[in-house]
Amino acid sequence: MVSHLFLVLLLCFTNFAFGSNSKTPFELGLKAILSPSATIVHSTSGAPRWSEFNAPVPGTVVNVATEKDVQVTVQYLTKHNITFLAQNGGHGWINSLDLYQNGVLINLAALDFVTFNSEKTKATIGGGAIVGDVIAAAYANDAQVVTGNCNCVGTLGAALGGGYGNLMGIHGFSVDNILSMKVALPSGKFVTITAADEDLFWALRGAGPNFGIVTSAVMKAFPVPQAESIAWFGGLFYTGDKVEALAQAIEDLTLTPNMSIFQYYTTSGAPDFTPTILITPYYHGSEAEARAAFSSILAIGPYLDTTSILPYPEWNLGSEGFCTKGGRKPSYGAGFDLLVPSDWRKIWNDYTSFAKLPNAGNSVVLLEVYSLEVARSIKAPPASFPNRDIRYNAVVIPWYNSSSMDTIAQTFGSGVRDIWRSSGGLTTNRTYVNFAYGDESNEVVYHDSTPRLQRLKAKYDPHNIFSHWFNIRSD
Ligand SMILES: *[C@@H]1O[C@H](CO)[C@@H](O)[C@H](O)[C@H]1NC(C)=O
Ligand SMILES: *[C@@H]1O[C@H](CO)[C@@H](O)[C@H](O)[C@H]1NC(C)=O
Ligand SMILES: *[C@@H]1O[C@H](CO)[C@@H](O)[C@H](O)[C@H]1NC(C)=O
Ligand SMILES: *[C@@H]1O[C@H](CO)[C@@H](O)[C@H](O)[C@H]1NC(C)=O
Repeated sequence: MVSHLFLVLLLCFTNFAFGSNSKTPFELGLKAILSPSATIVHSTSGAPRWSEFNAPVPGTVVNVATEKDVQVTVQYLTKHNITFLAQNGGHGWINSLDLYQNGVLINLAALDFVTFNSEKTKATIGGGAIVGDVIAAAYANDAQVVTGNCNCVGTLGAALGGGYGNLMGIHGFSVDNILSMKVALPSGKFVTITAADEDLFWALRGAGPNFGIVTSAVMKAFPVPQAESIAWFGGLFYTGDKVEALAQAIEDLTLTPNMSIFQYYTTSGAPDFTPTILITPYYHGSEAEARAAFSSILAIGPYLDTTSILPYPEWNLGSEGFCTKGGRKPSYGAGFDLLVPSDWRKIWNDYTSFAKLPNAGNSVVLLEVYSLEVARSIKAPPASFPNRDIRYNAVVIPWYNSSSMDTIAQTFGSGVRDIWRSSGGLTTNRTYVNFAYGDESNEVVYHDSTPRLQRLKAKYDPHNIFSHWFNIRSD
């Protein structure tokens, strides 16, 4: 009897973890230490992922209800040598989220609180709050917060990788606006990290998921009355013959802190999926100023112009289409300093060929350009996020739904990345951490921060428990 029980426990702890549907002693042990509202389930339907390509397939999902639940779950799983991953928006697409049936997904979605101090200068953001939650709460509080530009993405997940967004031209990256973080560490401790903790405050702001689970953060907020919380934004649509002219005009454009510009190679959508170029210019100011500032782009002659002055909660509506979860999206990113029009013609040709394939019409090539003046001069404490010197960030998203197309999608995606790398004007390959595919070396993603990150990793997470996000390793 004793040996039988031992065998059952052994199986539970090793091969199966809590993979089976009946409640194992193991699972009951965790349930007993979680708060009453937390649940343990064996389906990921409540925590879908943006991309199904190489997506984690955990046997078990722990839906935490409190920040403390995260700490006890980390302690418990670490003690029993069970591999785990935290999920917020589920948009991270890196191909190293290798969590299988014996792994556990810690779903942070219930930690979606967003609160403000009475002066509206600080926002406390839960690890489960998505960007749309933060913007809605900020607007209701006559405030603004530096977030990413997709409403569906986890706010802190994006922020810990650096955090580009509409307001960064004025206020710097999201990492520059983080004041403190509550973190469940690999050691099992649950701590509040501030600038006084030089190691972890630096490491978490750029490589957060490699050092722990941030359950909430206090970020700077900026009081702005609703009536003034407006910007000029929308879509300018161009035909494919404008590829070179647009690449050159973006290359020549000077962005002031009030401006950003995105270029998408996309399609008209169902039923025709006609390839089109979409430019989304952003200007924090009046329409007249905006049209003057973007006159070189407008002069190229969009066939459709949907720009207007929009309130803060509508700035992200342009990216709503990219929020759709599901489908396969092996995405390749690169950072570079130069746009070469003839190379963008090659990329357009590759894009239009791929987008013609069955059910691939939602594929996208995205180029993001922000004003970096403030972000480069900002007096925030240093962060491991290394991209302040990178002018352009781009990502190619082959988007389809049959695994039989994986190889051709990877060839298309990595081929476009090769073009960016070879003609982008940099001597080393670079990638924004949140845009990495997963095959990059640490230096490509973390650049100059790599040696210190590797040293801190060995110190704070010697067993590399937090290995799934871009794996920091010294080999
Ligand atoms: C933990 O599990 C991994 C594989 O899942 C195994 O390689 C390792 O030896 C285990 N460690 C301990 C201390 O049991
Ligand atoms: C940015 O826009 C605001 C609001 O329209 C304006 O007051 C400010 O002067 C602009 N700043 C720059 C640098 O253009
Ligand atoms: C693939 O996508 C198409 C178009 O979006 C849809 O009609 C089809 O049902 C999808 N197939 C699968 C297997 O998801
Ligand atoms: C950069 O990436 C390309 C492939 O995209 C590769 O051929 C080249 O060797 C890389 N350069 C460095 C310095 O690693």
